[in-house]
Amino acid sequence: MTITVFVPCDAAALAVGADKVAAAISREIEARGVDARVVRNGSRGLLWLEPMVEVRTEHGRIAYGPVTPGDVPELFAADFLRGGAHPLCQGRTRDIPFLRNQTRLTFARCGVTDPLSLDDFRAYSGLKGLEKALAMSPGEIVAAVTESGLRGRGGAGFPTGIKWKTVLDAPGTTKYIVCNADEGDSGTFSDRMVMEGDPFMLIEGMIIAGMATGATKGYIYTRSEYPHAIETMRRAITIAREANLLGPSILGSGRAFDLDVREGAGAYVCGEETSLLNSLEGKRGIVRAKPPLPALQGLFGCPTVVNNVISLASVPVILDRGPAFYRDFGVGRSHGTIPIQLAGNVKHGGLYETAFGLSLGEIVNDIGGGTLSGRPVKAVQVGGPLGAYFPPSLFDTVFDYEAFAARDGLIGHAGIVVFDDTVDMLKQARFAMEFCAIESCGKCTPCRIGSTRGVETVDRIAHGIEPEQNKALLGDLCNTMKFGSLCALGGFTPYPVMSALKHFPEDFAPAPVKEAAE
Ligand SMILES: Cc1cc2nc3c(=O)[nH]c(=O)nc-3n(C[C@H](O)[C@H](O)[C@H](O)COP(=O)(O)O)c2cc1C
Ligand code: SF4
Repeated sequence: MTITVFVPCDAAALAVGADKVAAAISREIEARGVDARVVRNGSRGLLWLEPMVEVRTEHGRIAYGPVTPGDVPELFAADFLRGGAHPLCQGRTRDIPFLRNQTRLTFARCGVTDPLSLDDFRAYSGLKGLEKALAMSPGEIVAAVTESGLRGRGGAGFPTGIKWKTVLDAPGTTKYIVCNADEGDSGTFSDRMVMEGDPFMLIEGMIIAGMATGATKGYIYTRSEYPHAIETMRRAITIAREANLLGPSILGSGRAFDLDVREGAGAYVCGEETSLLNSLEGKRGIVRAKPPLPALQGLFGCPTVVNNVISLASVPVILDRGPAFYRDFGVGRSHGTIPIQLAGNVKHGGLYETAFGLSLGEIVNDIGGGTLSGRPVKAVQVGGPLGAYFPPSLFDTVFDYEAFAARDGLIGHAGIVVFDDTVDMLKQARFAMEFCAIESCGKCTPCRIGSTRGVETVDRIAHGIEPEQNKALLGDLCNTMKFGSLCALGGFTPYPVMSALKHFPEDFAPAPVKEAAE
C-alpha cells in the first residue's frame, strides 16, 4: 500500500523550509524506489515543531519535527516511513499533549486533510452542515446560529445570529456576505490557517450565511501579505464551482451563491468593517459613521453581513452537530470554542483551540510553556495592538469576553503575545500611540491628533521632563481618545497605554537627572 507522508504547506511551515523538506522527501522516495507519496496538508498549529512531517502508519499518524532537508536521509535510514525511532520523532500526532488537550471543532480538519481535496473534506464531515442548512428555512438557520451563542470572533464579540437576523429582515433583493479576513492584529494567524488549511470550511460557512440571509454573493477580503491564503482560497473557489458547490444551483438545490477573493493593500484600519466596505468598493479605507449599520446599508448600500473568518468557519459544525452541542462549551456568555493564538516570546507558540474558560496563566504557562528565553514572563498583550497588557498578577483572569472586559482588557481575535522581563513597557506604550498615529484613517481628531500628541507625551516622560504632569496629561489624552473617537482604533489605543502605565509604573519612572538635563 502506498505510504502517505504529510508536509505542511501553511505559510508558517513554508517560512521555515517546508518546501525544501517536501522536495528532499520526494527525492529520497524516488531514489529509494519506495511506494510512498507526499501530501501537502495544512498546519496542526504546533509552530515550534514546524516543518512537522507526519507519516500515516497502521498505528496512526506519527509526527517528526522540526525537520530540515538535511535530516531527511537520516529519517529514511531510521525507517520513518513505518514510524521508526528517531530523535525528531514526537510519537503519535494525536498524543502530543498540545494537541491531545484541545477541543478542535473549527480546526478539526486543519492539518489533517489535503486542503484542496473535496473528497478529503467530505470524508471528514465537510458539507454536512450545508446539507442540513439546505433543508431548513432562512429563519431556522438564523435561529440555530442565535441559539448556539456564537459571538463574532473578529474582536467585538457581537452575537452572529442577531447580525444575520438584521440582514434577513432588511428589505432589498441584493444582499452580500463579506468575510473579514484582514487579520491585522499582532500575534494572530487563525484566519490565515483556515484559508490555507481548510478553505472549503470557510466556503461552506459563507454559503450557509447566504442561505440564512438571502445573500447570493460573497467576498473574502484579505491582505496582500497573505499570498498563500489568497492562492489557496482562489483555487478552492474554482474547485467548489466545478463541483456545483458554488454557482447558480448549490448542490442542485436551485439556490444560488458565488464568491470572490479581494486583496486589500494592508492598512490596519481596513479590518474595521465600514472601512473594509469602502475599500471593497474601491474607495479609500476610511471609517464610515454608524448608523446606518452595514447589516442595513453595507456594501454598495445593500444589506450586508460582515463576519470574521472564524465566525463563519464555526457555522458548519453548529449546523451539523446542532446549536446545543456548540453552546455547551464555554463559560458565562462566551459559548463554544476559541482558537487561541500564542505568539511572541513563548516556548510553545501556535494555535490552540479550546472551550472558553481557561485562565490566562494556564494558557501562557501550561500550554505555552512560559517564555522561549527562559526568563520570567513580565507581560502579555491579549487582543492585538489595541489590547491591554496583563501582568502575571492578573493571570487568574478567565478567558471569556466579560472577564477580560471587567479587568479593562479584551480578548479581541484571541491573539496572545508574550514578553519576558527585558521588555520596556514605556516603549510598548509609545509603540501603541505610534501605531495609532500611523494607522489612523484620519477621520476624527481625537485619534488623528491625539495619537501624535500621545507619542510626544510618552517621549517627555521617557526623558524625565515633568513626569507627573505628563503622566496626568497622558491619562487625559487617553480619556479623550477613548470617549471621543469614532471607531475602536482611536477608542482602544488607551488600553495598551493605560495598562502599561498602571501595571508597570516602574518603567515610567523619571530618567536619571543627567539625561533629563540634556
Ligand atoms: C481598527 C480595527 C481593525 C479591525 N480589524 C479586524 C480584522 O482584521 N478582522 C476582523 O475580523 N475584524 C476586525 N475588526 C472588527 C470588525 O470591525 C468587525 O467587528 C468584525 O469584522 C465583525 O465580524 P464578527 O462579528 O464576525 O467578529 C477590526 C475593528 C477595528 C476597529
Ligand atoms: S478613531 Fe481613528 S481610525 Fe477610527 S475613525 Fe477616527 S481617525 Fe479613523
